[in-house]
Amino acid sequence: MKVLLATQKPFAAAAVKGITDILEAAGHQVVKLEKYEAQADLVKAVADAEAIIIRSDKVTAEVIAAAPKLKIVVRAGAGYDNVDLEAATKAGVVVMNTPGQNSNAVAELAIAMMIFMARTQFTPATGSEVQGKTLGVQAFGNVGRLVGAKAKALGMKVKALDPFLTDDQIIAGGAEPVHSLDELYAGSDYLSLHIPALPSTIGSINYELITKMPKGATLVNTARKEVIDEAGLEKALEDRPDLKYVTDVAPDNLATLQEKFGLRVFATPKKMGAQTAEANVNAGLAAARQIVDYFATGNTKFQVNK
Ligand code: 3PG
Repeated sequence: MKVLLATQKPFAAAAVKGITDILEAAGHQVVKLEKYEAQADLVKAVADAEAIIIRSDKVTAEVIAAAPKLKIVVRAGAGYDNVDLEAATKAGVVVMNTPGQNSNAVAELAIAMMIFMARTQFTPATGSEVQGKTLGVQAFGNVGRLVGAKAKALGMKVKALDPFLTDDQIIAGGAEPVHSLDELYAGSDYLSLHIPALPSTIGSINYELITKMPKGATLVNTARKEVIDEAGLEKALEDRPDLKYVTDVAPDNLATLQEKFGLRVFATPKKMGAQTAEANVNAGLAAARQIVDYFATGNTKFQVNK
């Protein structure tokens, strides 16, 4: 089968080699489309692809329509909001993710961002320590649990909210369960977001919620920019000069936020949560193995459009 590795933000060389080795050993052919500039490049490249491995690359209805031989798309990573699942399902294309494979990298970045803001973006201004503070984790999945464990090791108290988990599951994951967003935000010096971008979560982190946070609190976003109500965030930062926002996914109003709020806001220039050699290898090789397995045995364990 012809497998297209379409990564606008390429994997580390070791991961690309590992992906190629696994697929070629199983008799598949690998074609690479890396660092492409326009979506039209992806649309063109999928013409004869039977499988595609992607990261945050956008597999839209147009991409699927341009790929008549396509059977499977594997998002090497967790969030699959970049894939048009409806169009894929209609076309009979299996979509998978590789849950957990890049979680540690994202969790480490969330912790790093928290400390970066506590220490005023590594400027000489007097900062604060995270020890003894409370971290609220919104969604206690693979990344959220790791962030919680690392925060505990730093001497933080950890609270978590996850509508899909029981209290016992949250406690087993090392956090104190919280049952409402209001309670979570009101009790968190740091709030780390780990929710997916879904119709129900897009724009849900709004003024009311953000301003519930206690004095001096920081909102940490290594999830998706779409979950933030950007106008609400701007107003919250305006009305509450003690609040801070740090994100791995730059908001559309970043220039305004930086101009108005200076060191209280930071955004990475490009999404980098999963951008470690280890995460690239873990997620990339898992994607390759899932494709080999799917074609060999029909295994759909990680299918997200069942
Ligand atoms: C994910 O959903 O797995 C992360 O957001 C990583 O995205 P990336 O592969 O584009 O770095």
